[in-house]
Amino acid sequence: MQRNYLKFKTDNEQIRLLQNTWHSVYQNSYAEGLKFLIKGLNLPIHNIGDVLDKIEKKIPIQYILKKWSFYEGEYFINENVLIPRPETEILVDYVTSKFKDKKNILDLGTGSGCIAVELSKKLQTAKITGVDISAKAIELAKKNNSQTENHVNFFTSNWFSNVNQKYDLIVSNPPYIAKSLNLDESVSFEPLIALYSENQGLADLSKIITYSINYLQMNGVLMLEHGIGQENYLQEKMIKEGFKKIELIKDLKDINRFIIGHR
Ligand SMILES: C[S@@+](CC[C@H](N)C(=O)[O-])C[C@H]1O[C@@H](n2cnc3c(N)ncnc32)[C@H](O)[C@@H]1O
Repeated sequence: MQRNYLKFKTDNEQIRLLQNTWHSVYQNSYAEGLKFLIKGLNLPIHNIGDVLDKIEKKIPIQYILKKWSFYEGEYFINENVLIPRPETEILVDYVTSKFKDKKNILDLGTGSGCIAVELSKKLQTAKITGVDISAKAIELAKKNNSQTENHVNFFTSNWFSNVNQKYDLIVSNPPYIAKSLNLDESVSFEPLIALYSENQGLADLSKIITYSINYLQMNGVLMLEHGIGQENYLQEKMIKEGFKKIELIKDLKDINRFIIGHR
């Protein structure tokens, strides 16, 4: 829709337009989304018409704002990467408190680079690498890399295909959703490759466990984020591949969400 005239509206008028459009789409639900949007937009803006169009299409506010907070940083986000989730912050917290001594860390399926960049801020003497199969994700991760002095080394790789060394710690939040699962409509804007995995969501997690053992130093650690109810399968898989001291870690809703194994 041609909405050029809207750019001359004042910030209060733009707020009213946003509220009206939001309510026509979401009614009274998801009010916090509108709050975040108004706060993040820095009104008045010249392209308010585009924003209203995107609200009407139910595009997630993170993709409208093109940025989102994760842990202690703010990340450029676009439709080529997953929107960073709050539960993944637990992984960063855990690594920065329990694995401070790790000097060489690999983040598999780095997406926006949010895990790798936050780790590099906290573990300043560690060398951090982030890989992703998506060249467009790596392009964005490199842009996000500029928020730290301790630059992460980002490159494309199909899991370990371009990885040529061993690490003290490998972390990953891989795609783990079963293709049969019906998800919320908002998720349909995120890249399929970031969300879904074959074999009830377990295919990529399994591959990572199998290959990791060859890319970990002796006493190296693998920490994976996973889906609801996948922990028993993953625990058995880790034992089968020779991992020891396996631990399960819960998320903010008290659901098992992370698995750790030691080589
Ligand atoms: C769930 S997203 C996680 C993104 C980011 N690490 C985060 O936590 O917000 C999974 C990521 O794995 C990547 N990915 C999927 N298959 C891959 C593969 N075979 N090799 C490397 N990366 C892959 C996707 O492109 C996506 O960026």
